[in-house]
Amino acid sequence: MKTRELGTLQVPALGFGAMVLSPGVYGDIDDARAEKALRAALDGGAGHIDTSDAYGVDGHNERLVGRALKGRPRDEVVVATKFGLAIPDGEPSRPYPVGYAFNELRVNADPRLVRRYAERSLRNLDTDTIDLYYLHYPDPGVPVEETVGAMADLVRDGLIRHIGLSNVTAAQLRAAHAVHPVTAVQNEWSMWRPVEPDLLATARELGVGLVAWSPLGNGFLTGTVQRLEEGDFRHNAPRFSAENLAGNNDRYAPIRTLATNLGITPAQLALSWLLHQDEHVVAIPGSRTPAHIEENLAAADLTLHPDTLHRIDEALVRFDVSGGTLL
Ligand SMILES: NC(=O)c1ccc[n+]([C@@H]2O[C@H](COP(=O)([O-])OP(=O)(O)OC[C@H]3O[C@@H](n4cnc5c(N)ncnc54)[C@H](OP(=O)(O)O)[C@@H]3O)[C@@H](O)[C@H]2O)c1
Repeated sequence: MKTRELGTLQVPALGFGAMVLSPGVYGDIDDARAEKALRAALDGGAGHIDTSDAYGVDGHNERLVGRALKGRPRDEVVVATKFGLAIPDGEPSRPYPVGYAFNELRVNADPRLVRRYAERSLRNLDTDTIDLYYLHYPDPGVPVEETVGAMADLVRDGLIRHIGLSNVTAAQLRAAHAVHPVTAVQNEWSMWRPVEPDLLATARELGVGLVAWSPLGNGFLTGTVQRLEEGDFRHNAPRFSAENLAGNNDRYAPIRTLATNLGITPAQLALSWLLHQDEHVVAIPGSRTPAHIEENLAAADLTLHPDTLHRIDEALVRFDVSGGTLL
């Protein structure tokens, strides 16, 4: 697969987001299905696997990823994980002020905990180094530069190779980058959730790469979500409520039609569109289904004509999404 540069780190244009592989996110899933999906992703060229210590219970998702790495040359996979939400027992936490569909987020990015978080992730992943280590959410009680100072010590000591930040603002990126070069910012970005223009401009100026999370709009942009399974977190997301979902699907029709006319799927159009937004953006779609994974990864090779990109932009301006701005 074509590669791209995030700072000084080279990654495939399309990676794989493993969050979907732990129970309790997109409905139920067992480890056999999860392992098959990870194999499909790695065999298909998605040599950039994104996980977090907060996905699944007790590092479940990181342990899945660790098992999938076995028997593969370690330097052929970029392993990215995150910290700050799976807070060790007895440590304080602070609420993160957004109304996500997930339960309320509690964070702790105290620099004194950072090494402990990393050592636990290394054990879960059963590896010697984390290629890209993200602060998962900024902690309102700790200046981001202090957390990044502790992450810089981990780079120096070889526990991690690159520093990433997730869910940050342009100002937080700039403050962190002054302490230690940041390789990538991972924020939500898709056809139905634009990236903050300030953040994109700052990342470009500083030479920081962008990793787009939920690039398929939690599955919506594939055009296949009509109803949700039991236990799917999207039941709590206003954009996916029965009435909003039906209307959103109707208003998304012009983009689905554009994809059909190009002979590709809406998922492929959504991923390729993202890759055309900037040469230093990569996406990490998630899926439990090998056929979907194959379909998604094929989008890395698509080239969209400028007229097509223009038509998509026009359609997105008219795509009036119901269900508010938060997940
Ligand atoms: N940093 C953060 O705070 C943060 C937050 C959220 C997510 N993330 C990262 O972003 C990654 C991706 O996000 P995500 O999984 O939430 O959302 P996503 O990639 O936008 O969408 C995943 C959903 O799309 C469906 N899907 C995928 N490909 C499909 C296809 N070709 N056709 C039909 N359906 C398809 C999947 O269902 P099937 O399983 O049926 O294919 C799944 O329900 C996560 O794994 C995680 O690594 C990061």
